[in-house]
Amino acid sequence: MRIAISTGGGDAPGLNAVIRAATLSALRRGWEVVGIRDGFTGLMSPEKYPDGDGVITMDLNRVRGIGHLGGTILGSTNIGNPSEYPQQQPDGTWINVDRIEELVGMFGSAGIDALVTIGGDGSLSIARRLAEAGLSVVGVPKTIDNDLDNTSATFGFDTAVQFATDCIDRVFSTATSHSRIMVVEVMGRYAGWIALHSGIAAAAHAILIPEIPFDLHNVAEMIGRRSARQANFAVVVVAEGAMPRGGARAVTGKAIGQAERLGGIGERVAAELALLTGKEARTVVLGHLLRGGNPTAFDRLLGTRFGAAAVRALEAGHDGVMVALNPPVVDYVPLAEATAQMRVVDPNGDTVVSAKDLGISFGD
Ligand code: F6P
Repeated sequence: MRIAISTGGGDAPGLNAVIRAATLSALRRGWEVVGIRDGFTGLMSPEKYPDGDGVITMDLNRVRGIGHLGGTILGSTNIGNPSEYPQQQPDGTWINVDRIEELVGMFGSAGIDALVTIGGDGSLSIARRLAEAGLSVVGVPKTIDNDLDNTSATFGFDTAVQFATDCIDRVFSTATSHSRIMVVEVMGRYAGWIALHSGIAAAAHAILIPEIPFDLHNVAEMIGRRSARQANFAVVVVAEGAMPRGGARAVTGKAIGQAERLGGIGERVAAELALLTGKEARTVVLGHLLRGGNPTAFDRLLGTRFGAAAVRALEAGHDGVMVALNPPVVDYVPLAEATAQMRVVDPNGDTVVSAKDLGISFGD
């Protein structure tokens, strides 16, 4: 048996723990393991790797001492989805071509029997297409945003929430010392899990998430009520994908073959709240800091369980599945089911309701 491992989409703390666990579990079964560089680029465009190392041999030495490190030793990319591969036409325009069948053929030519692919919604949808085209695939759910359905957690989320909480804790000093509004922008494209969990954990006064379109007049009123009782400051956490009621997400740009780049909502919220309240407001954007650093023990453990379970899935002949945390066990979900919908925050769920019970404003 010869398996490949690949990591796709935005990096998340815990990827290396999965790579290590899958490699060690496979090697212990006497299988061969290779790693594909930068998503599928190492296999699809080997010419980009002058030393011929687009596909590398994974042995004990390669994975020694990596389980606690952030990032991915294989590299990752969110450009060049093989099912919508950007190709320039002779007239200079770009079209997307479907290269899935071709990619399955490349696995065959490289003598690879099965793939463990670690990624978020985009990579798992590619995994589903590869499985439908005949490749033996097991997906591993990854994202700091925690927006994948059918698994109660993705690795990377716990690390991101812990770091965001530490950062929000820190802005309280400036908020109280200067009687300011401090706005902290965190990642969270379609789902506000990071903002919700870190905002509650750090006792923020307002939390703005994509699932609950906001009206800043409501947030300003809450800040006004605080001022009336001498609490002259406020801390607001906003997810990058949050949007005003009737408005749109704040976007900074879009490159060919990539999703829209989000950004700017924190600045907009701060500027408008300053106008509405007459207070000074400042913004901190945590952005990619949330994806960096060493994974928490929770994410190392989850990544390790996922990596080992992916190999057991292949051994048992379960392919076309995603490993999933279904407490207390890790089990398997068909990829088609796993990618059918996103898991977003329920505005009427107990976490939001509890936050509202405490007086936290969601701007609604
Ligand atoms: O999907 C994870 C995520 O962190 C999103 O919250 C964010 O919009 C995106 O990645 C940013 O990706 P990039 O690294 O391409 O800017």
